[in-house]
Amino acid sequence: MASDIDVILQVNSLIKKFGNLVAVNDVSFYVERGSFFAFLGPNGAGKSTTINIITTLLKQDSGDYYINGKNDDFYIRNKIGVVFQENILDNFLTVKENLCYRGALYLKNDKLVKERYDEIRVTLNLEEFENTKYKNLSGGQKRRVEIARALFANPEILLLDEPTTGLDPESRKVVWAILKDLQKNNNITIFLTTHYMEEANDADFVVIINKGKIVAKGTPSELKQQYAKDIFKIIPKNKTNLKNYLKELALPFERVADQFIIENPETEQAIKVLNDNKDNVKQFELIHGSMDDVFIKVVNGKQDTKTENLENNKSQ
Ligand SMILES: Nc1ncnc2c1ncn2[C@@H]1O[C@H](COP(=O)(O)OP(=O)(O)OP(=O)(O)O)[C@@H](O)[C@H]1O
Ligand SMILES: [Mg+2]
Repeated sequence: MASDIDVILQVNSLIKKFGNLVAVNDVSFYVERGSFFAFLGPNGAGKSTTINIITTLLKQDSGDYYINGKNDDFYIRNKIGVVFQENILDNFLTVKENLCYRGALYLKNDKLVKERYDEIRVTLNLEEFENTKYKNLSGGQKRRVEIARALFANPEILLLDEPTTGLDPESRKVVWAILKDLQKNNNITIFLTTHYMEEANDADFVVIINKGKIVAKGTPSELKQQYAKDIFKIIPKNKTNLKNYLKELALPFERVADQFIIENPETEQAIKVLNDNKDNVKQFELIHGSMDDVFIKVVNGKQDTKTENLENNKSQ
C-alpha cells in the first residue's frame, strides 16, 4: 500500500466459512479516508458477510481488519455507523421518537440527544415527516431515517448494506445524493454495497466480489477500460463501399443488419473513418462500455490474464 494514502479501513485476508461453504474467501482491500467505496457482487457473493465482520457483528475464521489502524471491537464500534440490508427501526414509533430513543443509547443526556437530533434532522431533511410513524413512511423515507440513525453517534465511516435496493429510481437518487453530500460536506467515508451498476459508476473505488472472492478492483474508469468494450456503430448509405473501405484498412468489424460495428476503436481511427466516408455515413454512434458490461464480464466470465495483471498491479 502506498504510504501517502490515508487509510481508514484495512481488510487483510478475511475468511469466513459456514460449514463447507466459504462465504468470504481470502478478501483483502483498503478504503481511503473520505472516499466513496462501492462493494459489488451478485446475490450470495459474500457482501453482507464481509460487512457483518467489519462491523464486529460476526466473527471471522481468519484474517483481520482495522479502522484507523486499530482492531479493538469497542474502538471500531465507536467509529462506524451501520445501515443494514433490512430496516431495523420501530414501526410504531415516530421518526423523531425512533431517533431520540436510539440516540439516548449513545449520548448520555437529553440535551445532547436533542441537539444532535436537530442537526441530523436538518442534514437529512427529515422535518416534513419527523412526527410520522415509521411504518407509514415510503421506502425511501425509511432508508433516510435508517441513515440518520447510523449517523447519530457521529461516525467517521458509514457502512451501508444495499441502501438503495428496492427503492424506485427517484428515491434511489435522493438517498444517493444524501450519501454524496455526507461524503463531500461532512467528510464521512462511505462504504456501500449495491446491485445497481450505474450507482457504482459514481464511486471513487470499486471492489467486485463473486463467490467469496474478489474478482476485480479499481476506479470505475479503470474497470471500464479493462473489461468493457466501447462500440463504434456506423450505418452507411452504401454498404458495399463501407465494407470495402474497412477491409482495405484491415479494420475488424461486425455487421448487424444495416450497422457496421467496430469494437474499441482508437479515437483517431474513428475520426479518420468518419472523415474518409463523409458522404457515405447515414448515422453513427459511439457507445461507451458501462459498469454493467464490467459486472457481466467479471462475474460471468472466467478470470482472465487481464484480471491477474490488475491484481498484481494493485497493492489494494
Ligand atoms: N448465517 C449463515 N449461515 C449459513 N450460510 C450463510 C449465513 N450467512 C450467509 N450465508 C451464505 O453465505 C453466502 C454469502 O452470503 P451473503 O449474505 O454474505 O451474500 P450477499 O453478497 O450479501 O448476497 P445478497 O446480495 O443476496 O445480499 C451465501 O451463500 C449465503 O447463503
Ligand atoms: Mg447481502
